[in-house]
Amino acid sequence: MPILNPKRYTVTAALIYANGPIHIGHLAGCYIPADIYVRYLRSNKKEVAFISGTDEHGVPITIRAKKEGLTPQEVVDKYYAQIDASFKSLGISFDIYSRTSKDIHHETSKQIFRDLYDKNVFIEETTEQYFDETAQQFLADRYIVGTCPVCANPNAYGDQCERCGSTLSPLELKDPRSMLSGASPVLKATKNWYLPLDTLQPQIENYITSHGEWKTNVLGQCQSWLKDGLKPRAMTRDLDWGIKVPVEDTEGKVLYVWFEAPIGYISATKDWMIQKNGTDAGWEKWWQPETNAPEETKLVHFIGKDNIVFHCIIFPAMLMAEGNYILPDNVPANEFMNLEGDKISTSRNWAVWLHEYLEELPDKQDVLRYVLTANAPETKDSEFTWKDFQTRNNSELVGIFGNFINRAVVLTHKFCEGKVPAAGALEEIDQNTLSQLEAFPARIGEAIENYRFREALTFIMDLARLGNKYLADTQPWHVIKTDPARVNTILNIALQISATLAIVSEPILPFTAAKIADQLGLAGQTWPDAGKPNLLSAGQPITGAKLLFEKIEDHVIEQQIQKLHDAKRLNELEGKVVAPVKAEIQYDDFAKMDIRVATIVAAENVPKSKKLLKLLVDIGSEKRTVLSGISEHFKAEEIIGNKVLYLANLAPRKMMGMESHGMILMAEDKDGSLAFVQPGKEIWNGGTVN
Ligand code: 2FM
Ligand code: ZN
Repeated sequence: MPILNPKRYTVTAALIYANGPIHIGHLAGCYIPADIYVRYLRSNKKEVAFISGTDEHGVPITIRAKKEGLTPQEVVDKYYAQIDASFKSLGISFDIYSRTSKDIHHETSKQIFRDLYDKNVFIEETTEQYFDETAQQFLADRYIVGTCPVCANPNAYGDQCERCGSTLSPLELKDPRSMLSGASPVLKATKNWYLPLDTLQPQIENYITSHGEWKTNVLGQCQSWLKDGLKPRAMTRDLDWGIKVPVEDTEGKVLYVWFEAPIGYISATKDWMIQKNGTDAGWEKWWQPETNAPEETKLVHFIGKDNIVFHCIIFPAMLMAEGNYILPDNVPANEFMNLEGDKISTSRNWAVWLHEYLEELPDKQDVLRYVLTANAPETKDSEFTWKDFQTRNNSELVGIFGNFINRAVVLTHKFCEGKVPAAGALEEIDQNTLSQLEAFPARIGEAIENYRFREALTFIMDLARLGNKYLADTQPWHVIKTDPARVNTILNIALQISATLAIVSEPILPFTAAKIADQLGLAGQTWPDAGKPNLLSAGQPITGAKLLFEKIEDHVIEQQIQKLHDAKRLNELEGKVVAPVKAEIQYDDFAKMDIRVATIVAAENVPKSKKLLKLLVDIGSEKRTVLSGISEHFKAEEIIGNKVLYLANLAPRKMMGMESHGMILMAEDKDGSLAFVQPGKEIWNGGTVN
C-alpha cells in the first residue's frame, strides 16, 4: 500500500555515471519528472529532500578514462562539473548534488557493507571468473563482451545485452573477449561476497505485491525477475577503481558499483546536512523509520527503465537485510525516449546534449522542459523530433499559453490603467469559468501525485485554453465601448486565471512562472492559494507585458537537425577501418588490365540522372565516351582538362540508353569523398600503367 499522508518526502533522482554529458533521454526519463514532483510538493508546503549526484565508480568510468586518455579521477571531475552546471541551468532544484567519490560516501558504504557482513548476511563464495592474462586483470561486467545467448548480438556486455535487454552474467556470453586487450579471457578462481537474493525472495515478493499501485512497466519487470527466481548476486568485484572492501585480506577488490551507488542517496543526504550544518546529524529522519510511526517518510526513486531491478529488488533487499531503513514507496521509472527515429546513443553521438542545448538555445529552458514533459515516455518509449519541438513551442507555448497571459496583461494596461480591476456583478459565463478554474489545481495536483506528468501538463494547457476561450467569448475589446465596468470584471477574471496558471505551471515551467508572478505582483502565493477567485487584489499594479515565449524559426530547427547528422557521420568516420586486403591474384591477372593515361576533354551532366556524368576522354589512340557515377562529387565544367588513369579494356556497358566504354580510376577517402588517380608528372595520353 502506498503511504498517503507522510510527514515528509525523500525524493531521489538516479546517480548518473559521471562518464559523459547529460542528454534529453536522461532528462525525460528521470530528472524532469523528479523536479516537477518535488516543486509541486514544495509548493504544497511539504517537507522534502531532493537528492541526487554522480555515480563515480564502476567499469563505465574506467572504460571512458581509457577512451579519453585520462585517469578515472580526471574523468569524474570533468563530468561532475559539467553535469552539475547544466542541471542548475535547467532549473533542476536538487537540495544536494553530491558525488560518490566523497569520503562520506566511502564511509557510509563501507559501514553498511560491514554491518551486513557482521550479521552474516553475505555468502562468501569462490568462483571462476574471467581473467585477462595480457592486462593481468579480472574482467567484471562491462569489461567483457561477447555474443548474447538470447539474441546473438555479438557485442553484448558481461552484465547486460543492450540489444534485447537481457540481464546476463559474463559466463553466459558466447565467444567472450576482453574489452581491455581484445584477448580471449581465461577462467580463474576468486573469492567474492554474495547477497542471497534467493533466500530473500519471499520478503521481496511480499514487498512488491504490497505495491500493486506501481506503474505497469515497473511491476512487469519485477514480476519477470521474481518468476525466473532470484539468484545470489556478488556485491564485490575484482577491480581497482571503487570503494575498498572493508574486510581483511581483500586487496584488489572493491564494492560492486550497484551495491554502493544507491547507498549514495543516503550519503548524499548526509553530505547535504554537512554542507548546511557542518555535521551529518539530522540525516536519519529521511531514511530511518520513526519509532511507532514507520510511515512518516515517503521514499520515491525517479529512474530510467534500465535501473528498475536495482531499485525495486536489489536495493530494497539490502535495506531489508540491514533492517534499519525505510523502503522505497514508489519507483516511477520511465521508459526510453528516442530521437528522430533512432535510439539515443552516447557512443554513436546520436543525442541532444543538455550543455549544448543551453548554449545554442539560451533562455529556452522551459521550452525543453515543456516538450520533454509533453512527450515523456511514461508508459512506453516515446520520440523527440526537432519539428515537434518547434510545433509545440510555436503552437502551444506561444500560441496558447503565452498568448493568453499576454492578452490579459496588455488589455489590463489598455483598459484598466495597468492595475487589477475590481470585479462587479458576475454573469453566468463568469461563474461558470470561475468554477472551472477552481477545480483545476486539484486535478493537476492529483495527476502529479500519481506520477502522471503528461496528464498534468494537458490540464495546465486546458486551463490556458479556458482563459483564451473566456476572452474570446466575452470580447472585452468590444464591450469597452459600451460597458467599461463589465470589462473590469472580465479582466479581473482573466488575471485571476493567469495568476493560477503561474502557480500550477511552476513545477513544469519554473522560469516562465517566475516571470508571470513578477508581472502580476504575486507575492509568495503557492498551490493551496491557486484556483481562488481573489488570488490578486483589486488595485494591485501589474507590470508591462513580458516576452514569455518566442516563435522558433525553421532555420534554427534545420541547423539542429543538420548538427545531429553531422555529429553522427563524424562518429561513424572515427570508427571506419581500412578495408582488408582482397584475395591474392597472379601477375597475369593484373596484366590483363589495360590501364593508361588519358585526358578528360569534355564533360556534361546526364539528364534525369542524379549520379552520372558523361565524359569524353582522349586515350591517345582515340576519344572514348565514359559514363561515370561521380556527379555528386564533381561539377562537369571543373574537371575538363584533368589527366586521369583509365581502364581501357573493360567491356562496354549500357546505362541510361547510352554506351559507356572503359572506366576512370578513382580513390575514395575516409569520408566517402572521391579523387582522380593521376600520374605524378605530365605523361602523354595513352602512356601505359604497368
Ligand atoms: O545508470 C546509471 O547511470 C547508474 N549510475 C545509476 C545509478 S542510480 C543509483 F543507484 F545510484
Ligand atoms: Zn541479446
